[in-house]
Amino acid sequence: MQTPAELAALHFASYNVPGQLYAAPGRVNLIGEHTDYCDGFVMPAAIDFSTIVALSHRSDGRILAHSVNFDERLDQSVSELLAGRTRHWSDYPAGVLWALREHGVPIDNGFSLTIAGNVPLGAGLSSSASVEVATAFAVLGATSYDLPLKQIALLCQRAENAFVGANVGIMDQFVACCGQQDHAVMIDCRSLEYTLAPIPPDIRIVICNSMVKHDNTGAYNTRRAEMEAGLRILQQHRPEIKALRDATVDDLARWGSEMTPESLRRCRHVITEDTRVLAAVEAFRNSDLTRFGELMHEAQLSFRDDFQASCPEIDTLIALAEKQPGCFGARLTGGGFGGCTVNLVAADRAAAFTKAMRAGYLEATGIAAEIYTSRASAGAHAILL
Ligand code: GLA
Repeated sequence: MQTPAELAALHFASYNVPGQLYAAPGRVNLIGEHTDYCDGFVMPAAIDFSTIVALSHRSDGRILAHSVNFDERLDQSVSELLAGRTRHWSDYPAGVLWALREHGVPIDNGFSLTIAGNVPLGAGLSSSASVEVATAFAVLGATSYDLPLKQIALLCQRAENAFVGANVGIMDQFVACCGQQDHAVMIDCRSLEYTLAPIPPDIRIVICNSMVKHDNTGAYNTRRAEMEAGLRILQQHRPEIKALRDATVDDLARWGSEMTPESLRRCRHVITEDTRVLAAVEAFRNSDLTRFGELMHEAQLSFRDDFQASCPEIDTLIALAEKQPGCFGARLTGGGFGGCTVNLVAADRAAAFTKAMRAGYLEATGIAAEIYTSRASAGAHAILL
């Protein structure tokens, strides 16, 4: 990817004015999958891959945007662009402009944007949230409109829900805003309170990309609908259940038979996953990586068998990882149906782990996995040149 200085030069070359630069990271989720939209708990970390947006003002009511990754340029009036989604990369920045305008941020004079990033696309590492949050930071910076980080995350989520059409939760946008170097972020998705959990310095986060593309529309939305149907049944019996966060496995034992088998499984995954996240926070606090790894293992089984959102390639990566010396835990990270696994690996074993994973996966599937080692990184920020 371009360096920030190169991106700034590109922006100047396109628009003849300097742009202000902002970056926002992708993320891995260590544990807590599909719990965020159930008011539950998640434990992601921002990663060393990010989107950078350079932005400058216009006065002609147009949005000019250049995606370096897609090698495409767009030139539309603000009202044309915000009229509705087009299933194009521009939906993400457009959705953010739309959500910010709804919130009262002045955007009607238009902007010029140059966007570049190195978060792998469709890999479950939240490239979309990183584009959204970088765009929001850039627009807010340029308009000197001050919003708390949580509000920025919520507006970016709204952009993705209501404009892009992906019914995602708050996790990705939140950690893209609030991530901290060398820390995982344990988010209570009901209160949006969060605590930072330091990642032990002798641990590496190794991310294995199965190269099976995933997205957060089709199957993601179906799983969510199945879970919500189960939730409604529990609410008939216990109206005080506002979200699955409030339900227990005992509730499922009593009323699960009234659900479809799919709804029962989705609900069981979410309810047990919340318990695992809370136990994982404890394990991290006690520096008990063995326990953390066991919880990742249980989470993966629940994701595969109850949420049914793994795939054979991911199962292969997990089985391989769990055999490697120095690997404390491995699981699919993100929405599911492909994408990446996250692996917690002893620092002195990380290189051997990577080599063995690449060779083993190629042999088993014929696919060359991309493998990244990342530290937990900081959330969105301005880049000063
Ligand atoms: C995607 C969504 C998140 C979350 C995860 C699953 O990454 O964007 O909100 O629901 O899937 O945990």
